[in-house]
Amino acid sequence: MAKIIASVNCSHVPAIGAAWDNGKAQQPYWAPIFNGFDFSKKWIADLKPDVVILVYNDHASAFSLEIIPTFALGCAPEFKPADEGWGPRPVPVVKGHPELACHIAQSVILDEFDLTIVNKMDVDHGLTVPLTLMFGQPQEWPCKVIPLAVNVVQFPPPTGNRCFNLGKAIKKAVEAYPEDLRVVVFGTGGMSHQLQGTRAGLINREWDMRFLDSLVKNPGELAKMPFIEYVREAGSEGIELVMWLISRGALNEKVREVYRFYHVPCSNTALGHLILENER
Ligand code: DHB
Ligand code: FE
Repeated sequence: MAKIIASVNCSHVPAIGAAWDNGKAQQPYWAPIFNGFDFSKKWIADLKPDVVILVYNDHASAFSLEIIPTFALGCAPEFKPADEGWGPRPVPVVKGHPELACHIAQSVILDEFDLTIVNKMDVDHGLTVPLTLMFGQPQEWPCKVIPLAVNVVQFPPPTGNRCFNLGKAIKKAVEAYPEDLRVVVFGTGGMSHQLQGTRAGLINREWDMRFLDSLVKNPGELAKMPFIEYVREAGSEGIELVMWLISRGALNEKVREVYRFYHVPCSNTALGHLILENER
């Protein structure tokens, strides 16, 4: 049977992708950020997951204000990197896992989570930057990737509780899939960030740390936090963090914290990264 073995959570700041693509990874500003993923690269190379379910948000690349799905599951065989204004990133095309994705869609929709099924979608920095951070620059990404795009751009976003419960429904679906696949769920976005307005550049390290601690130990309580607290405490784009509750819900109640990394500044945000494993 398929099994979710771990989660990887990390920010998906687009400037990280640009720094990597333009050969700036070892410059003083960027080196500490990429070095913060040295452990993670080795960890995932050893783990060799078959499939990553990658929870992220589209930033008006695949979806405009014309269509705003709350949860959109990528069921296609492949997903091209989106052109976000400077041409598509020079990274491999993302190969999906249509059979598992369709199985998840069927299972969670029948469990009353109304996902949008997407059979054609370009994927933006929200998805490709975490892959770069974790896998560097291979010819092909080393595993299949199922994109799960969440609307955190246009009010109203899904609640933390909805996200946490969707994670649980995804866990149930994966565990009912007959093939022996080892699956890792990525939750991306965050941490503190506000990109515009008078509070641009807001960083709330204490709140971010409390969020990480609660995500590990007490996700059920964390899931009750209203969206306004994310926005007030972690900035308007801090709401991206609700997506980490999907990856957390997909794990067991008890997890092992394998790795944590936090760095300020990254663009004008706080970069956070947390790896959790199910107790073996
Ligand atoms: C930026 C954009 C993002 O989507 C994000 O999650 C973090 C930072 C930026 O433009 O700097
Ligand atoms: Fe983002």
